[in-house]
Amino acid sequence: MDELDAILQQRQSNMTGLTGKTIVLGVTGGIAAYKAAELVRLFVKAGATVHVAMTESATRFVTPLTFQALSGNTVWVDQWDTRMSNGMAHINLTRQADLTVVAPATANFIAKLAHGNADDLLSTLCLARDCPLLVAPAMNRQMWSNAATQRNIAQIRADGIDILGPDSGEQACGETGEGRMLEAAEICAAVVAYFQPKLLAGRRVLMTAGPTFEALDPVRGLTNLSSGKMGFALAQACANAGAAVTLVSGPVSQATPIGVARINVQSAMQMREAVLKEAPRSDIFIGVAAVADYRPATTAVDKIKKSGETLSVEFIRNPDILAEVAALPSAPFCVGFAAESRDLDTYAQGKLVAKKLQLVVGNLVQDGMGGDTNTVVLFDATGRHPLPTSSKEELARDIVAHLSSLLS
Ligand code: PMT
Repeated sequence: MDELDAILQQRQSNMTGLTGKTIVLGVTGGIAAYKAAELVRLFVKAGATVHVAMTESATRFVTPLTFQALSGNTVWVDQWDTRMSNGMAHINLTRQADLTVVAPATANFIAKLAHGNADDLLSTLCLARDCPLLVAPAMNRQMWSNAATQRNIAQIRADGIDILGPDSGEQACGETGEGRMLEAAEICAAVVAYFQPKLLAGRRVLMTAGPTFEALDPVRGLTNLSSGKMGFALAQACANAGAAVTLVSGPVSQATPIGVARINVQSAMQMREAVLKEAPRSDIFIGVAAVADYRPATTAVDKIKKSGETLSVEFIRNPDILAEVAALPSAPFCVGFAAESRDLDTYAQGKLVAKKLQLVVGNLVQDGMGGDTNTVVLFDATGRHPLPTSSKEELARDIVAHLSSLLS
């Protein structure tokens, strides 16, 4: 089997992040229960089989029918339910599951977990489970900061239960503070990450992404069409693979990948400064940013006024950030991207050698810039390794897998 077949086969077994996984979703009685409906939809979309177990009070917020329609499976509420042939839903459900997630988890439910109470189906199921448990708390800010809740959270964490969030912000009660449940998309991303192999565990990854903006005056400048999608997908894949990731980003509208430390910059010079500060603490550097090769020689303090038929601007060369990092005395493992409009192999291989890199990800700008998919070829000391055209998220996982194989 050649490399491409191996990747395609692996893709089929991990098409959307949760394919082949069975998740039990516990829903408890808080207003955030409405977000659990969206969570079921996202889990199913990502390929998971979902079984929902609700507390009695959760059914006051959202009906079991909603979850049944979204999951396509029977919803469980009553521990005395006789629909399961042996009458033991609290045992059977988690025996086939890879993971149990409770979202939203109320203060009361967290207290029950901390004390090992089993007085309804969901709490009994959690106590009897033989798979890992993730909990997404959702409650009023005072309930969250209450010493009793914090004690209970510390206890369940010590018992090996992972806590997702909570977020802080406006709450359903009108107050503002910490305690609101993470968004469904954030919980789903955390669950996808949970299942990824930890190929970069213990590694510190420094990355750049997006375009740079080289100012001409206070309102105008030179930039390019990089959206940041490729770099942000790669940052998320590295974090999902267990790395501590710092992402230096040019001006983009992408949401910060979960678990990634983000540093926002505008110009190539600011990007260089941020990168050189972080580089000595990094094991791997990945340059995905489309850094402007030139910047205006001067930036006008005031807006440039219209005058004459032409305007000449002098540009000066920006430093090559990637080449500088690769030339450091204790340089990290360096990965470059090569964005070309033609002759990809020649230019990408040239960059591998000229910048003294361990890996170059080559792509044509017409394939990769701005869109959701890309077609890339990986170049390293052993040759060229083409990857099938895919979403930037899938390619990011493949790049991480190839990168980790080179590290080892
Ligand atoms: O952001 P998207 O819309 O998702 O698009 C993704 C992408 C096309 C921008 C991405 O896949 C990509 O190819 N990024 C590299 C773009 C680029 O500037 O390539 P380059 O061939 O000009 O530069 C080669 C390498 O040197 C890159 O790793 C670049 O980050 C780095 N570089 C370049 C110039 C410079 N002054 N400093 C650098 O570090």
